Amino acid sequence: MVTQEDVIELAKRRGFFFGANGAYGGVAGFYTYGPNGAAVKDNLESAWRDRFTVRQGNMEIEAPTIMPEAVFEASGHLDGFDDMLVECPECGESHRADHLIEDNTGIEEAESLPVSEVEMIIRDHDLRCPTCDAPLGGEPVEDFNLMFETSIGPGSGQPGYMRPETAQGIFVEFPRLKEYARNRLPFGVTQIGPAYRNEISPRKGIIRVREFTQAELETFIDPEEDEPPLHEVADVEVTLYPADEQEDEEGSAYATTVGEAVEEGVIGSEWVGYYLGVAQEWYERVGVDMDRFRFRQHLPGELAHYAADCWDAESEVGGDWIEITGFAYRGDYDLQKHAAHSGEDFDVFVAYDDPVTVERATVDPDMSVLGPAFGGAAGDVADALRDLVERDPDAFRNAKAAGEPVTVTVDGEDYDVALETANFGVEEVTESGESVTPHVVEPSFGVGRIVYTVLAHAMDRDEVDGEERTVLRLPPGVAPTTVGVFPLMDKDGLAEHARTVAADLRAAGLAVTYDDSGAIGRRYRRQDEVGTPYCVTVDYDTLEDDTVTVRDRDSTEQRRVAVDDLVATLARLRAGDLAFEDV
Ligand code: ATP
Ligand code: GLY
Repeated sequence: MVTQEDVIELAKRRGFFFGANGAYGGVAGFYTYGPNGAAVKDNLESAWRDRFTVRQGNMEIEAPTIMPEAVFEASGHLDGFDDMLVECPECGESHRADHLIEDNTGIEEAESLPVSEVEMIIRDHDLRCPTCDAPLGGEPVEDFNLMFETSIGPGSGQPGYMRPETAQGIFVEFPRLKEYARNRLPFGVTQIGPAYRNEISPRKGIIRVREFTQAELETFIDPEEDEPPLHEVADVEVTLYPADEQEDEEGSAYATTVGEAVEEGVIGSEWVGYYLGVAQEWYERVGVDMDRFRFRQHLPGELAHYAADCWDAESEVGGDWIEITGFAYRGDYDLQKHAAHSGEDFDVFVAYDDPVTVERATVDPDMSVLGPAFGGAAGDVADALRDLVERDPDAFRNAKAAGEPVTVTVDGEDYDVALETANFGVEEVTESGESVTPHVVEPSFGVGRIVYTVLAHAMDRDEVDGEERTVLRLPPGVAPTTVGVFPLMDKDGLAEHARTVAADLRAAGLAVTYDDSGAIGRRYRRQDEVGTPYCVTVDYDTLEDDTVTVRDRDSTEQRRVAVDDLVATLARLRAGDLAFEDV
């Protein structure tokens, strides 16, 4: 079995990713993507953009990564974006308390437990510091806010934070974005970019880092009216691990289809179900092994502060399940909060199919009566009457039925006002629509964890010509290099010919590596290990008939192809329009 250590070793040796700032000793939680990793990440982002922005008809934006404090006061991140921290009394090392529990007891998803219970479990299981083995029982477990704080501007400036999710950059711009969408729901906005979290204990390569790339889609819907095109993905087969199965000792993940799971209410929201189906197909296309993949529902205590329901896409690597994407039904939480804190309009006016006539209660307070009756409070009493008729018109109807005055409260004091003085009446008005605060459905992909999964699932070892090889069976569209070009020998004009072939392939937009060093078998191995799907060799026959050999990474089979057809053949192979056996 390929272990996480195998993936990390290959990643470092062959330039996929490695700990950053090594010259200065490095800082945990920061990684650099090397040439091969940056190319894979870029290919995955392009594939994501193609599926979740272009093909879905969504809009992509790019917002700043530093945002003022007010944004996170409104979003709830200042108060609620915490992980549980326990500090070792001996060596001072900080640890994530829920992870300590999960790693050392049979308890799963300890994040959903209250702090007091976490402290108790640490004590009862005599959990110890992973660094120095000192006992942690009795140490306080504290909430630690994960946001990086900074100061905007010179001097003390104003406080700002590195965004912990790209989503907030979309939510705060909603008043403008809805205009670009011509105030028509549903619409979706995407963003691919960095997010920052001051993780307590970053670990396992790029799985838990302090700076990472998210690809997020925020879909804004009218919860009463808008339905997703569920039929497009109803037959997609998925493996689900719902909350009740996790809570049941005998429970387990099981196979079903998106359509069935929605119909049976296992997936509560049609929109979430729709995105699980779209995402499942996308993951498969970019190289995630569907036998090592599932959707797990959040347990109630595990839900983020904004989420009404959430499913995680999880991949298995080296025996561990890793969350690679969260699919959250965020309701109107975010837009309501930003509306309340900013005073801006985060609603969308939704027009009815046909205008409707409704009765509306009105008041028109008679100030010539209120003034003498209530003196300085008269204006406030009039405002209170206008407010009450909007909020609770039945208060006036009930007062009328009982033949009594209506009562309003101003600064803690009650005022009785005769209905004639309030000028209470009912009028018929025609309404053409209503203001709706959209609900948000959010697939939130962590690009780094998908890079990691795709590499791990592609990594394989087999034997070729009696020799063991490591091969990355990456889909051609994801592999960092599409084609390796080799001259059989560096003499007799073969190298010049091969350089021309390589230049022509590059000019056609293919990612090409040129390699003329060592035996041809070794050159193939070098490309196999970084996932290059095709290798082209220029040999003596090329000089005779202008053909080259094209060798397939997975089967190691070879075909002769005319140089004139090479660009078209490789482009079709890369796009998946041609299978190698048909070359
Ligand atoms: P975890 O439980 O693993 O900390 P999370 O539930 O906090 O993850 P979300 O808040 O749902 O993650 O973030 C959305 C996605 O962003 C995740 O599915 C993951 O792919 C990615 N992500 C979150 N935190 C990190 C991190 N520290 N390093 C790398 N990717 C991350
Ligand atoms: N936007 C979801 C998350 O990052 O938590």
